[in-house]
Amino acid sequence: DRLMVLNGPNLNLLGQREPGVYGGDTLATIEALCHDRARAHGLAVDFHQSNHEGELVELVHAAGARCRGIVVNAGAYTHTSVALLDALRAVRLPVVEVHLSNVFQRESFRHHSYIAPVALGVISGFGKDGYAFAIDALAARTREERN
Ligand code: DQA
Repeated sequence: DRLMVLNGPNLNLLGQREPGVYGGDTLATIEALCHDRARAHGLAVDFHQSNHEGELVELVHAAGARCRGIVVNAGAYTHTSVALLDALRAVRLPVVEVHLSNVFQRESFRHHSYIAPVALGVISGFGKDGYAFAIDALAARTREERN
């Protein structure tokens, strides 16, 4: 079984982008962590990043065809994208929303998420570990489905 891990705009710049907020690790490090954590659960990961809203929508559609769940850090699109919300709703997969930073300690425009209403839950503020926690949550969920 496969999970999709989907990253939105500017996350390709991790490591150099506001390290005080997002930490010093690159997206490549997070990708390696995701593969390791998924493998420990007997799962594979499709890992993607895009700066384009429509491409993220199409990746969600692709996940609908080949994955059992989606981990999504939609970056700023979290706070703006009805299209991403609709795509996630359309594919009916379990979704876990992740943010590296604790968005609730930050500007009020980051407190609202369009995606959270269709997510199983939201993990925010644990840095890259949040991706591992999200994979654990989806792994538990797919195990339940198989039993
Ligand atoms: C983020 C938080 C968002 O508000 C921001 O726009 C990002 C990253 C995070 O991982 O903390 O790009 O999703």
